[in-house]
Order: sequence, then structure tokens, then C-alpha cells
Amino acid sequence: MSDVSAIGLGKMGAALATTLLSSGRSVTVWNRSADKAAALLEAGATLAPSPNAAIAASPVSITCVKTHATTTELLRPLGAALAGKTIIDLSTGGAKEAEELVAMLLAAGARWQIGMINAYPSGIGKPETAILCAGPAEVWAAHGDVVRTLGGASAHVGTEPAAIPGLFAAMFTARQGFMFGLIYGGAVCRKAGLPMEAFAAQVPVTFGMAKNYADLFMRSVPTQSYDDAGATVAVYLAALDDALSTFEATGTTDALPRLMRDLAARGVAEGYAAKELTALVEMLAKD
Ligand SMILES: NC(=O)c1ccc[n+]([C@@H]2O[C@H](COP(=O)([O-])OP(=O)(O)OC[C@H]3O[C@@H](n4cnc5c(N)ncnc54)[C@H](OP(=O)(O)O)[C@@H]3O)[C@@H](O)[C@H]2O)c1
Repeated sequence: MSDVSAIGLGKMGAALATTLLSSGRSVTVWNRSADKAAALLEAGATLAPSPNAAIAASPVSITCVKTHATTTELLRPLGAALAGKTIIDLSTGGAKEAEELVAMLLAAGARWQIGMINAYPSGIGKPETAILCAGPAEVWAAHGDVVRTLGGASAHVGTEPAAIPGLFAAMFTARQGFMFGLIYGGAVCRKAGLPMEAFAAQVPVTFGMAKNYADLFMRSVPTQSYDDAGATVAVYLAALDDALSTFEATGTTDALPRLMRDLAARGVAEGYAAKELTALVEMLAKD
């Protein structure tokens, strides 16, 4: 028997397994392409000949393959061999895939956590690295120490199967919202005849304002406190109308500013005019 099994030894999985070994745990590994296990075997890991053998070898297994669906595909054939085992899936994936994985594990009698690794492989094992997990609280209580070995700032953030894909979708959308905002901004500046250097010089200023948005979000959304608005939805709507009119006048493609303007307009129509812009979370979450 080993302390922990690691299934999937790609760039991330190998970093996870290496860190588990360096923590002094006994580790059994399995990878579809067995050659990727060579360095780990030299470092003291045990090679399992199949996913079944890897799961059987330890009470808890970390899976890190392509997606949650890959984990489901690998583990479903094990059936009752999963009973009583704990699977911590650190693969990335969508909400439906996560729900299917958890349903399969529960039907087989296994315990589960799904985690999101907020780091590159080089960050694994560092105190500041966070792996955010969701799943039953008692499973985190029993096995959170394994995850904290992989990232010292790791935390349990939810209990639902879709929680981690939801968090991933939220963080990715927030970051890419900024990036796509810059892309649309670059396009409207080009069409409006503004030298791109002038817009580029303003990017750090705009990025600095993102801190205010983050503060506002943290202050208002968790407590649903939207009434003491510094800038109301109605004020945002007026500004978004101005911006959209320039996209239109310059013939710049305007799907993103139009989407934002339409959401603010819907907010006004649905009674959020005097509230903080962040109140639109409540409007959208009702859909
Ligand atoms: N790399 C990062 O910076 C990073 C950061 C955060 C999260 N992640 C997540 O970690 C997971 C793994 O990423 P990675 O960077 O390690 O990717 P990778 O280097 O491409 O490795 C992919 C792993 O998945 C296995 N795999 C793929 N399809 C499979 C299948 N059908 N059956 C069995 N095994 C299969 C591969 O096995 P073979 O070796 O046989 O191909 C390999 O072990 C992904 O979900 C990724 O989103 C990665």
C-alpha cells in the first residue's frame, strides 16, 4: 500500500507526484504513456500497471489528466473497486463533466473532491500556491493536508460538483473580459484615428482602476449590499450609451460594448437604476 496514488503524469501531474514524493509520502503512479513515470520511479515511486491497480494501492488518489471527462472515462470501468476510496480530481473541466464524474464516483461508493490548480507546474509545492477544492467538507477535513502539500495556500471553497468549474469560468471570464475590452478598445481607437501609443499609454491607468472594481465587488456582492452606490446603474448606462455611439459612428464592430450597454439598460428596466452596477449579478443569477 502507498499513502497516495497519482494518476496522470503530464506536466502538471508529474509536478504533483514529485512534490508528494518529496513530502515523504509513499506514492504509486500511473500514466497512459508509462515512459513518463521514469524519473518518478527513480525518485522512489511505485509504478501501477493500470488505473485499477493505482486506485487499489492507496486510500486517496490524485487524478490530473486532460479533463474531468477523461477521469470519468478512466475510472468508470473500475466500478466497485472505487468503493471507500477518495478521488481528488485536479483536472480542468466543465460543470456538466464535473457532475458526471461525481455521480459516477458516488454510485461506485467513492468519496470525492474536485480542485482547480491556480499555478503552473513550477508553483506546485510552494507556500503561496492555491489549489481550490470543492466537495464534502468531511473529505476535505480528512485529506486537505495532501492538497496543502501541493499548494500551501490551498482551501476548501464549496461543496457542489459544479462549484470549481463555476469558479474557473468566473475567473477566466473576468480576466478575459479585461483582455477583450482592450481588443475592442484598440479597434475603436484605430477607427477613430487615435495613435495606438496614446491608447496603450492609458492601459496601465485603466488597469489601475480595476482595483477599484475589485474592491467594490468584494464590498457589495458577498453581502448583497448595493444601495449606497458611488456610481449607479443609470450612470453607467449613460456612459455606455456614449461609448456605444462612438463604436457605431466609427463603424467599429460593437458586440461587446452593446452587450454591456444592453445589460445596464435591462438593469434600469428591471428596477436596478439607483443601485451599484454589481447588483446586476443578482439580475443575471435570476435567469
Ligand atoms: N500545465 C499547467 O500549467 C496547468 C495549470 C493548471 C491546471 N492544469 C490542468 O492539469 C491537467 C493536466 O495538464 P498538463 O499540463 O499536465 O497536461 P499534459 O502535459 O498535456 O498532460 C496530460 C495528461 O493527461 C493524460 N491523458 C490525456 N488524455 C488521456 C486519456 N484519454 N486517457 C488517459 N490519460 C490521458 C496524458 O497522458 P499521456 O502522457 O499518455 O498523454 C497526460 O498524463 C489539465 O486538466 C490542465 O488544465 C494544468
